[in-house]
Amino acid sequence: MVGLPARGKTYISKKLSRYLNWIGINTRVFNLGEYRRHATTAYQNHEFFRPDNQEAMAIRAQCAIEALKDVCQWLENGGEVAVFDATNSTAERRKVIQEYVVGKMGFKLFYVESICDDPQIIEQNIMEVKISSPDYTNMNKEAVLDDFLKRIQHYQEKYSPLDEEKEKEVSFMKIYNTGEKVVVHKHEGHVQARIVYYLMNIHITPRTIYLTRHGESEHNLEGRIGGDSNLSPRGRLYANALSDYIHEQKIEGLRIWTSWLKRTIQTVGGLDVPQERWKALNEIDAGVCEEMTYEDIKDKYPEEFASRDQNKFAYRYPRGESYEDLVARLEPVIMELERQGNVLVVSHQAVLRCLLAYFLDKSADELPYLRVPLHTIIKLTPVAYGCRVEHIKLPIDAVDTHRAKPKIPGDLEEKFRLRSKLKTGSST
Ligand code: SIN
Repeated sequence: MVGLPARGKTYISKKLSRYLNWIGINTRVFNLGEYRRHATTAYQNHEFFRPDNQEAMAIRAQCAIEALKDVCQWLENGGEVAVFDATNSTAERRKVIQEYVVGKMGFKLFYVESICDDPQIIEQNIMEVKISSPDYTNMNKEAVLDDFLKRIQHYQEKYSPLDEEKEKEVSFMKIYNTGEKVVVHKHEGHVQARIVYYLMNIHITPRTIYLTRHGESEHNLEGRIGGDSNLSPRGRLYANALSDYIHEQKIEGLRIWTSWLKRTIQTVGGLDVPQERWKALNEIDAGVCEEMTYEDIKDKYPEEFASRDQNKFAYRYPRGESYEDLVARLEPVIMELERQGNVLVVSHQAVLRCLLAYFLDKSADELPYLRVPLHTIIKLTPVAYGCRVEHIKLPIDAVDTHRAKPKIPGDLEEKFRLRSKLKTGSST
């Protein structure tokens, strides 16, 4: 990263890292401020960042070297992308990085510079994230703002933005005023192109994303996966309740996205809001297991059934899809969601697990087991560096379709043994 303090570098670093991990590129952020805090006693004030404070400058240069060593060690041990979250605001510092990372270690280097001259955005950034920085514990807001603005001035004295002429051979992108304009210079290859494309699509305007599964379907009642069945009577009640909830919220500029399947379209049938249908939002394709119950699958394909429990993320249904495939299919949905304002996404259990994992930074191991119950709205509100998540359960009963990871692969909980339940006359 490159840029003066309070230009959203940490926000970009964390968000980019979350995205790259989600698409399967092993990424980690190295934040130089954390190294500096480890190396020094409690932060006093902005004087530490004065360019003529030689003692502090030596500590800061040493911290940068330590961080770079860790970056390279991590890359050597299987990391794929390291985001070095620091100001790197002088050409000298960037030369050190270039020599170490490219010259000595032979890695690719791509700079992302965030440039912002809107005082309102800068102040908002300070108020939202710097206030809670460990540098400023127990300080009032005005004092933090004052100290931080002085800190920025010290950086400004020596700041040299990336320059196409002076740094001719360097690969970089510059983002102006949170995406108003983007300049890309000599990008190298696929991963850098994806980074550029992603960062071109994100914005920081406040908005809310609502996720919900379709109302309970006829197949849900029978414990069948996949297919394209209609809503059950309780599913239709959920559709009405969802419609009431959304009307009450009066959400500005709301758009609704559904899959192509009947049960999601029926769920929003009562909502007079612009709607779009996305085939990419269709449920995971269970291939030869489509419309079967878990009990049927266990009986007919016992090895497949157990093998899915061993690595649910990577497991692909014969002639169907895996969760990994689903993430790839959903990338354009995420990209478009990033561009949008308020959106209600009505989709399916596996699909919403993938979307939730993106927003909540969940690993590939956790993803296939995330809880996405029926008749529940999951409200996601971006805050500081992440997302606040609220579960709004509407008061209409529904079956529980969640199957937790069994201790023994291939074991099937009692609640999914529907045939044996029927035989014993149980109705629960
Ligand atoms: C910090 O010490 O908080 C940031 C160091 C830098 O990136 O300049």
